[in-house]
Amino acid sequence: MSKIPHVLSLALVYAIFCASSISGQDESWQLGPFVKQDAVNPIMGPLNYTTFFCPIRQEAVNWEKKDIFNPGAILKDGKVHILYRAEDDVGLYNGTSRIGLAISMDGVNFQRYPLPVFYPQNDSFAIHEWEGGCEDPRIVEFNSTYVMTYTGYDGDLARLMVATSTDLITWTKHGSVFAEAEGGQFVEMWSKSGSIVTRVSEKGKQEAVRLNGVFWMYWGETSIFAATSDDLVNWIPVTDPNGTENEFNLTAIFEPREGKFDSDIVEPGPPAILTERGIVFVYNSRNLDPLSGGDSNLPRGTYSAGQVLLNATNPIQVLSRLENYFFTPEKDYEVIGQVNNVVFLQGLVSFNGSWYLYYGTADSKIALAIIE
Ligand SMILES: *[C@@H]1O[C@H](CO)[C@@H](O)[C@H](O)[C@H]1NC(C)=O
Ligand SMILES: *[C@@H]1O[C@H](CO)[C@@H](O)[C@H](O)[C@H]1NC(C)=O
Ligand SMILES: *[C@@H]1O[C@H](CO)[C@@H](O)[C@H](O)[C@H]1NC(C)=O
Ligand SMILES: *[C@@H]1O[C@H](CO)[C@@H](O)[C@H](O)[C@H]1NC(C)=O
Ligand SMILES: *[C@@H]1O[C@H](CO)[C@@H](O)[C@H](O)[C@H]1NC(C)=O
Ligand SMILES: *[C@@H]1O[C@H](CO)[C@@H](O)[C@H](O)[C@H]1NC(C)=O
Ligand SMILES: *[C@@H]1O[C@H](CO)[C@@H](O)[C@H](O)[C@H]1NC(C)=O
Ligand SMILES: *[C@@H]1O[C@H](CO)[C@@H](O)[C@H](O)[C@H]1NC(C)=O
Repeated sequence: MSKIPHVLSLALVYAIFCASSISGQDESWQLGPFVKQDAVNPIMGPLNYTTFFCPIRQEAVNWEKKDIFNPGAILKDGKVHILYRAEDDVGLYNGTSRIGLAISMDGVNFQRYPLPVFYPQNDSFAIHEWEGGCEDPRIVEFNSTYVMTYTGYDGDLARLMVATSTDLITWTKHGSVFAEAEGGQFVEMWSKSGSIVTRVSEKGKQEAVRLNGVFWMYWGETSIFAATSDDLVNWIPVTDPNGTENEFNLTAIFEPREGKFDSDIVEPGPPAILTERGIVFVYNSRNLDPLSGGDSNLPRGTYSAGQVLLNATNPIQVLSRLENYFFTPEKDYEVIGQVNNVVFLQGLVSFNGSWYLYYGTADSKIALAIIE
């Protein structure tokens, strides 16, 4: 039998336990509480001895020497697979990003592949990926194919890109998720962080799910936007004539809030999850300066995480949003690093009768939290 009913009941018990927020709104739909695994965290950090022959530089680099962070995660063959962003320590941008793979039987101890599985090379996508690199992978499965959204960074513009694989090792790049939409006009727009809506299947796999006949994705950074797709590769942004993002008329699903932890930026976390209550969407967010519109209890620039519930029959409609963050930097390795005060949530796996959450810490390392 699937372990999921147990997971959901765990979440439900907790949810009922703290069903109302201070404001009195019903927050019982949220996932949690997530307990940071202090005994093992951070579970992964940079390595200074693994080398990779970069096909563009035509020389060897220590590809995960500077920092590793922002992991996507998925279950395959009963094992947790993490795809993580790794930065070398050379070049114009203080580190080109490539994507590494690590596998675990217990969700805690990971064995890494010695070489990155995804990286900029001499192909038609290098124009969008060099030399900032390939960043922030998020993974879902559908029909035995893995679909990875990631950010291609040319050093100037971030672009939301997509690739597919059947084994998580060999990948086919497809370029910008918006390459086909509206004559390609959205390709030249700043875009990143694609969270595809999934459900947990009877076998415990997290699979992309069609709602109203199409796949859905949340993406963005200034606001949360949405997009739909028939094939998980080509996506069409949701727009309307009164869209808030003037240049492209994008429909903002929700935006930063003044005075709160999410006052500056809102950015998707792991793949969103369809539940009986609606779509539970974990998002990352950045705080403004407390003196100019930020949360006064958090330093400027702090990345914390929130949760939103969206309507499964109208996925652009927000039904509920946590008043406060449920996850924020506290530990040394979350507070100090390449970028201070950052927890960045990207991987959420239904595993061992619970939810395992993998996240980047201070843009430097990777840590784990579990619903216990
Ligand atoms: C590599 O890292 C190890 C452990 O962190 C450290 O002791 C060693 O000095 C480093 N070597 C180089 C060449 O940076
Ligand atoms: C890749 O491109 C670089 C820069 O254009 C070039 O120096 C190198 O020879 C190319 N490598 C291959 C294998 O084509
Ligand atoms: C790279 O790091 C150096 C030293 O910390 C800094 O001065 C420079 O601005 C950084 N460059 C970029 C592009 O971030
Ligand atoms: C599953 O979780 C339990 C605690 O609920 C733990 O004792 C056990 O070691 C875990 N199993 C695996 C395979 O991680
Ligand atoms: C699943 O993949 C198979 C083989 O590629 C294909 O024939 C089939 O149409 C796919 N099914 C769906 C629902 O996409
Ligand atoms: C945005 O909406 C305005 C007003 O309806 C329209 O004139 C304009 O063409 C739209 N822009 C795009 C990029 O669709
Ligand atoms: C756009 O805004 C105008 C003015 O507020 C309103 O009359 C119109 O119904 C809106 N259109 C849509 C599609 O929301
Ligand atoms: C969800 O969306 C459907 C379709 O638009 C609507 O009928 C329903 O009232 C919405 N649910 C809530 C709780 O607003």
